[in-house]
Amino acid sequence: MSDRILLISVTLLFLIGCSEEPSNDNIDPTNSGRDTWMIIQEKILAENCVDCHTTGTSFADQSNLILTPDVAYDQLINQPVDNQAAIDDDLERLGTDGLSSLYKSYLWEKINAPDKEHFYGDHPQYGSLMPLGLPYLTNGQLEFVRQWIIAGAPESGSVADTTLLTDTTRFEEVEFAQPAPPENGIQLHLGPFEILPNYEREFLYLTELDTSGDLYVNQVEITMRTGSHHFIMYTFDNQMPDILDPEPNTYRDLRDENGHYIQENLTVMFFHDFFSGTQWPYINRSFPPEMGLKIRANKGLDLNSHYINRTDETTIGEVYVNIHLVDPSEIEKTVKILQWNHNDFVLPANEITTLEKTFYAEERMYIIQLFSHAHEHNLEFAVEVVGGAKDGELIYVLIKCIFQCALVFTGRCSISYLFVQRLPKINILLFWCMDSWDGEKKKWQVTNIGEERMISFSD
Ligand code: HEC
Repeated sequence: MSDRILLISVTLLFLIGCSEEPSNDNIDPTNSGRDTWMIIQEKILAENCVDCHTTGTSFADQSNLILTPDVAYDQLINQPVDNQAAIDDDLERLGTDGLSSLYKSYLWEKINAPDKEHFYGDHPQYGSLMPLGLPYLTNGQLEFVRQWIIAGAPESGSVADTTLLTDTTRFEEVEFAQPAPPENGIQLHLGPFEILPNYEREFLYLTELDTSGDLYVNQVEITMRTGSHHFIMYTFDNQMPDILDPEPNTYRDLRDENGHYIQENLTVMFFHDFFSGTQWPYINRSFPPEMGLKIRANKGLDLNSHYINRTDETTIGEVYVNIHLVDPSEIEKTVKILQWNHNDFVLPANEITTLEKTFYAEERMYIIQLFSHAHEHNLEFAVEVVGGAKDGELIYVLIKCIFQCALVFTGRCSISYLFVQRLPKINILLFWCMDSWDGEKKKWQVTNIGEERMISFSD
């Protein structure tokens, strides 16, 4: 394992929109009036689950789960799971702690089809996605259930917007192929390139853009051939001396064939500004229509691809990126990236350590998305708002099993949220994480800032 994998740090990345406009973001989304749990039973469980999860069927025996209206709530809420692998991972069927319960919920794992690659890749003992043998739940049904879980999964009360159920699209796997280029935007193409047998290939590749001014990006679509650990796009810091300008359209490998770092190709990473990226084979992420992420791409984009080939044959990597642009006159809120790191701390040996750090937001901001990245040994990572009306609210959490995939390179290491929330003018964001280290005392530090800016995404 390379040194790089042993580095640990925690990076939190915010996409924020700045505006002086008053907001109405706190409007209660609830408009149904009926108990959300009743609607879940009638519109989701009855139609997709109850035929199997009913007393007397072999399916009910196999799962030890009955979902008929008389007992469904009691069978799910705060109940232990039947599956041994999920028990070992400390999951429960469904808790009532809101966001943190979402990620400890086996029920959610079992229905959340968009996480299919993670479900089968990281948890081969978790059985099948539900509903077994039927089409996945629709994206609207999943979001409806997710909102109910985040609201604490109450038995009564209306806590999710019923119009969500009108979204009848379903998760579909996307095969690698060239996407249609954007109508207003840029398509980038990297490769095909080779990855030698039993080799990690990571390189930078400068692609020049036909622009001298700022670009406003509203949507980014990335699709990659399998085997990718990550793909990231960077712009360059104003401070970068021209002498460091990389050669365009050239593969600048970060390691030689023996796996040793090539220092001269690393230097430029100190001047990188993160723009976008993913660890998923496919993402298509967009902002609300009136928002645009401002990037200064006068020196082009430095593309960073990292593939891992664990086979004895040479494999092929390839990436397509669609960057959709929006006219600045159409933008009401400019999105910016705010990156906070905690990367220089000491972990005592043989202990679980909890670390806390607070950051202050100096201006009024809307948080649109949160992404995080941590390296191995991290057990849990959470973000809470401190101060103002949202004081104490948990807005982001990751648990052990999601982080462990960073270790095994399954390509999915974190989650993200899409939400627009206006925070009070001065806020403190508090985050904490825990780590267990069974070896010597280690210092958490970054040896190369660029490396630690690897960010993980999901939609
Ligand atoms: C065709 C029959 C069938 C349908 C339909 C079905 N299930 Fe299942 N379910 C099973 C079987 C069999 C198992 C046990 C094997 C497994 O976990 O894959 C199971 C297991 C589960 C478990 C895990 C229970 C535990 O504690 O281990 C959950 C949760 C679950 N199902 C929820 C659902 C939900 C929610 C639906 C509807 C959206 C659904 N199932 C539809 C057959 C079915």
